[in-house]
Amino acid sequence: MKKYIQIDPWKIIENKFTPDNNKISESLFSLGNGKLGLRGNFAEKYSGETLQGSYLAGIYYPDKTKVGWWKNGYPEYFAKVLNSCNWIGLNIILNKSELDLNNCVIKEFSRHLDMKEGVLYRNCTITTKEGITLNIKSERFCSMSDDHTAALTYEIEILKGQGTMALSAYLDSNVENEDSNYDEKFWNEISLKEFSKGIYNEAITKKTGFHAAHACINEVSVNNEQVESINTTKSEKYISQNYELTFDKGSMIKITKYLGIHTSFDTPNDLELRTTESCQSIFNKTFAKAKEEHVEAWANKWNECDVEIKGDESAQQGIRFNIFHLHQTYSGKDSRLNIGPKGFTGEKYGGSTYWDTEAYCLPFYLSTADQEVGRNLLIYRHNQLQKAIENAEKLGFENGAALYPMVTINGEECHNEWEITFEEIHRNGAIAYAIYDYIRYTGDESYMAEYGIDVLIAISRFWAQRFNYSEAKKLYVMLGVTGPNEYENNVNNNWYTNYIARWCLQYCVKSIEGLKDSKEEILARSNFDIKELELWNKIIEKVYLPEDKELGIFLQQDNFLDKEQILVKDLDPKHLPLNQKWSWDRILRSVFIKQADVLQGIYFFEEDFDMKVIEQNFDFYEPRTVHESSLSPCVHVILASLLGRKEKAYEMYLRTSRLDIDDYNNDTEDGLHITSMAGTWMSIVKGFAGMRVKDQCLFFNPLLPDHWKEVSFKIKYRRQLLKVKIDQNKLYLLNESAQPMSVYIKDKKVKLLEHEKTTVQL
Ligand code: BGC
Repeated sequence: MKKYIQIDPWKIIENKFTPDNNKISESLFSLGNGKLGLRGNFAEKYSGETLQGSYLAGIYYPDKTKVGWWKNGYPEYFAKVLNSCNWIGLNIILNKSELDLNNCVIKEFSRHLDMKEGVLYRNCTITTKEGITLNIKSERFCSMSDDHTAALTYEIEILKGQGTMALSAYLDSNVENEDSNYDEKFWNEISLKEFSKGIYNEAITKKTGFHAAHACINEVSVNNEQVESINTTKSEKYISQNYELTFDKGSMIKITKYLGIHTSFDTPNDLELRTTESCQSIFNKTFAKAKEEHVEAWANKWNECDVEIKGDESAQQGIRFNIFHLHQTYSGKDSRLNIGPKGFTGEKYGGSTYWDTEAYCLPFYLSTADQEVGRNLLIYRHNQLQKAIENAEKLGFENGAALYPMVTINGEECHNEWEITFEEIHRNGAIAYAIYDYIRYTGDESYMAEYGIDVLIAISRFWAQRFNYSEAKKLYVMLGVTGPNEYENNVNNNWYTNYIARWCLQYCVKSIEGLKDSKEEILARSNFDIKELELWNKIIEKVYLPEDKELGIFLQQDNFLDKEQILVKDLDPKHLPLNQKWSWDRILRSVFIKQADVLQGIYFFEEDFDMKVIEQNFDFYEPRTVHESSLSPCVHVILASLLGRKEKAYEMYLRTSRLDIDDYNNDTEDGLHITSMAGTWMSIVKGFAGMRVKDQCLFFNPLLPDHWKEVSFKIKYRRQLLKVKIDQNKLYLLNESAQPMSVYIKDKKVKLLEHEKTTVQL
């Protein structure tokens, strides 16, 4: 854990440069706009520790899988989100010596990310080895108003020294991934060109053949006098515009890079033309105007998604940081895109889609973005249905059964840890649950007939084939699975998996019955045979769900109580985190739970259980949980709040809210935990505010941490906007839309006319 970021409600501030923290800061200062993004790398050379990363949505590489002993069914490749063209780069040579921040004395340094504006600022005063002292101020943003553009300014004031400066402002596709399996470079050159005033660099990925095009116009001035470039240099995958300047004490040198960025993924035709046009367009606007439009786009977003906390500034900063990154990562405009656990902030997890999207991210986007955004997240899986069927076929399933991949970028499984890839089949359940969650929240019933039912049928076929009838138990069982708790593998009858599988079958049967118009044609899309229902109904009746009646708990799996029962509080802290201190073998045999498992099921299906059951399970499982997945604390905040356990809820909240800012798990340098950020939002809205959907209405049951004076947020619900403010005694509602809406506060139903306010005593 590291606490060097200053607390501020709207800013992420670093006041001092510490090389050891540089990779962490690079993650924290990442920028993005849903189409492109980059880590907070320096524009000028830095030969110290750094993870260079510029990423483009949808652009990936199938890196050859590395395994010791190949077995049938292993995924062929591991998908990698690609580090792509470095477009911020500046090479500065002062009196023949290259400026390298790592070799300078850094006298002053600060950078801050203004989350309200979506702009990254840096200010530093440095002295080079040759004794030249400079103050450098820079700003950058990835435009939210035109997501094919970005810009940066870099302003140098000479405080001491004189001489010449050779400056190259470049586009460099000669970049690598740190996590490449065989040290391979993933890009080939397509073209390096000059166009009107700018330069153009187009490269293609090996194997996948994606084109990435970057166009840049550089504007350079000395003391406000424009300087023209002297020439252009090209070498493999690299192009730069070069300038020669002279400087004295007091000289002001300003460089602005205007970028147009397109890929063949989003721009299949006229790539070069469209890229140079985007570049020209941001250049014509000027930096100030383009920034103004970008800031305005963020202001519009914040107006609908901000969460304001009074009385806890560090929690305030935490939640805004999370919301900011979620909206930078996914804009929901393109149903071929999804949310990687690291977004545009690092290479880990390959930029792929996990069950995180359905289980954790969907509720955030449903409430803070337009309905189409949530729908697109669902359509992403519908688009990949055929691949999910093929994936199941590879494992021996048939008749249109679908097993969605645990990790995917284009619908194919692309992960190579077998216990996760093959056995965490519970992900199929979350994908079906998301359909239910979306329809329940939005009321968009049309989704079921149009898309949802195809996915539900294919998933149900999978479950029907995956359960087997146990003669011994006279019940249907599911053997050899891994539940959400990855700290035990290949277990029998994981309660969560069995429960959600049965629920999928029930939901599918009900949804088939509920189809109205064109039922036959809809079912014909899946070659559905009514006879399939026989087995499904049999299974629904007779699923084995392990429980211990005496303890009053559901059993995480058949043998859970055979394990040595120790609680986390009785473990010497030197053993934690287990995943860094213990052998895998020891972890797998232990009772310790990585993340919510039984409790994940109770969270999803809360209405199926009474409070006593929820409490008994919470009190049994939470003390055995080490929360070593960033996805774990939020589920516990929600359940602890439901149970009125304020302290526990707040303890868990802190673990999720500032996970990255304070580097809780010592891994922020790899990138941010984007998908768990949605969990932080859920912790506040579903946890402390107790928001649910009941009886087609929003429902609130608040329980604020004692020291929070007030929390407020806006919620989009069925194309209406509701402002909610909660303090220790009251709940205030403002219906910001033009139609009336009804809301439950605990068991009281309140009707709000358009633009009407109300206050309810809690
Ligand atoms: C968690 C998984 C999750 C994955 C990606 C793992 O640590 O255990 O549940 O899907 O990270 O976030």
